[in-house]
Amino acid sequence: MRYYVEPDRSPNFDLRDGYKDRFIKRDDSVKEKLDHMLRWILANRSKLSARGTTASSCDLDIDFVTWRGHLTKLLTAPYETREGWQLAVTRFRGTLYISEVETEAARRDQENRTERHEEMMYWGYKFEQYTCADTVHGQPDPGGVLNTNEAFCTVVQTRLADHRLLFSGEVDCRDKDPNAPAAPACYIELKTSAEICTPKQRSNFHRFKLLKWWAQSFLPGVPRVVAGFRDEEGVVVAMETFPISKISHLIKNEHNCWKPTVCMNFCSDFLSFVKHIATEDNPSVVYLLSWEPRRDVTFSVHRDSPYCFLPHWFVEEMTS
Ligand code: A3P
Ligand code: MG
Ligand code: MG
Repeated sequence: MRYYVEPDRSPNFDLRDGYKDRFIKRDDSVKEKLDHMLRWILANRSKLSARGTTASSCDLDIDFVTWRGHLTKLLTAPYETREGWQLAVTRFRGTLYISEVETEAARRDQENRTERHEEMMYWGYKFEQYTCADTVHGQPDPGGVLNTNEAFCTVVQTRLADHRLLFSGEVDCRDKDPNAPAAPACYIELKTSAEICTPKQRSNFHRFKLLKWWAQSFLPGVPRVVAGFRDEEGVVVAMETFPISKISHLIKNEHNCWKPTVCMNFCSDFLSFVKHIATEDNPSVVYLLSWEPRRDVTFSVHRDSPYCFLPHWFVEEMTS
């Protein structure tokens, strides 16, 4: 976990610096599915087990295990017009495990990225390097090597309506003030975005960017986003802090804008639907739920198929 260091009034960060010579890129063709979370669950099982009773039909006392990023996609689906998703669901010992399956379209997009797009994906991480220190009294080291294999993830147990959720999500950094509130209230999400020069750009920022930012941080309870606004050359020209609790007020002036309750209701109704259809408790059965913009959710059932994602080591350890 790194510590946020507030930059000077005029930052002038060059986000392109180091892309060619000081960048170790994570191999995103490696699909880790839920494996890290499952290892975490085995290591922390005693904290999760159903309290006191032997009558529980649910070993972990949790309805859903998934990544925060998958929940973000569910929250934003009512307003998403471009990208669909596929989620694999397995019911095992009463808990529903949800793991994303890459769509054909996403795989094609990934293969056809332009050099400019490849480089721009680096910019967000570079911004983190300009604003984060490794130690509480340290300073950022923008001259260092940037390695996107490194990350800190938090695990959160919470509820959405009557759904008991356990999910994990990456956290960029924390407030370094020793008097800062306990996690997650001390966490800070860092973002970059194109600088806003026209009313149309401001409107788009509210309608699309702030929706994504809100959805990503709302569920884990990360209270603020620190944004760096950059020009076309990748130079950060302005910074602004967005408290998550104020985002829904900020967008109220936009005509026909997104609403947090619509997002939460869709996510909650989707999870209820999953509970309803994924009835067979079996680690080698996958319910594959697919969604495309402006369409209904559809599903198919797969037995002992390549969609299976709960590893043997997890199933065996949980059964013993
Ligand atoms: P920005 O958020 O500033 O765009 P996160 O903000 O979720 O912590 O992600 C850190 C950075 O990873 C992003 O910075 C962006 O540079 C890159 N990134 C993450 N997901 C991406 C995606 N789906 N497509 C392109 N870049 C992505
Ligand atoms: Mg991050
Ligand atoms: Mg970030």
